[in-house]
Amino acid sequence: MALTMLRGPDRATLYDPPMDDAADRAERSARELARRSGTERHDVLVVLGTGLARTAELLGAGDDGLPLDTLPFFPPFSVDGHVALGWSVPLAGRQVLLYGGRCHLYEGHAPRDVVHPLRTAMAAGCTTVVLTAAAGGLRSDLGNGSVLVVEDHLNLTGCSPLDGPVFVDMTGAYDPGLQALALAAPDPARAAVARRPGVYAQVRGPQLETPAEIRMLGTLGADVVGMSMALETVAARQAGARVLGLAVVTNPAATHEAALDVAGIGAVGAAAAPAVAAIVRHVVGSSS
Ligand code: HPA
Repeated sequence: MALTMLRGPDRATLYDPPMDDAADRAERSARELARRSGTERHDVLVVLGTGLARTAELLGAGDDGLPLDTLPFFPPFSVDGHVALGWSVPLAGRQVLLYGGRCHLYEGHAPRDVVHPLRTAMAAGCTTVVLTAAAGGLRSDLGNGSVLVVEDHLNLTGCSPLDGPVFVDMTGAYDPGLQALALAAPDPARAAVARRPGVYAQVRGPQLETPAEIRMLGTLGADVVGMSMALETVAARQAGARVLGLAVVTNPAATHEAALDVAGIGAVGAAAAPAVAAIVRHVVGSSS
């Protein structure tokens, strides 16, 4: 057969790609969220990383959280330190949706499933997103419990929540105005906030990094390393939301000097909850 017979505009094809139903699924979850929470629209999403679920209580959430795993299409949040509850809380005239945890790529979930809870919040009306996450610190000023305001990220997962020609602009992905507000949080939270913002590198995990990988990440310009945030930021920027990233340093990144205290990560995160709550209160109260 001549090769030309295989080309041509009228050539029939059996290729039948699946429909991109991510937006449709998010709409359906958002409708159920509205029905179950009794709140039609939300303004701000706060995702609480490892150990940080108590932040919700400090922001006025009651005991009666909505079990997120009963919303359609929500993957389970099954890792220790992550709570599969959502709360709807009024704060400074805005309606804030809080998630007590998240799921991760390293649990075996597809990127589009990992960002489904975030897309649900976007479909529920959120135009501002605060992403918090535990991270290992590479910079010498980042002691345990310090909070790094994220100014940019390195997505080293090799994955994206976007499929197809969706060329989302990632310049200025972490909103400079929200960064400035976080840096200006009043004391005592201010004392926990690293004076200089920095770069969050997302790796897939779940294994932690080798000392050589940490040297590589430092060379690439990373200030902290974690296993979430970057993919969520991509999905949030696709939806046009303003993003604030807060990386809570739970351990020094791997070096040859000492083994990592993996078991201690959740407790260090939990101790940072008051500072994170105060930063969120300040940012939500001061931004329009
Ligand atoms: N590396 C990757 N992810 C993390 C770390 C770390 O050291 N600490 C908390 N999350």
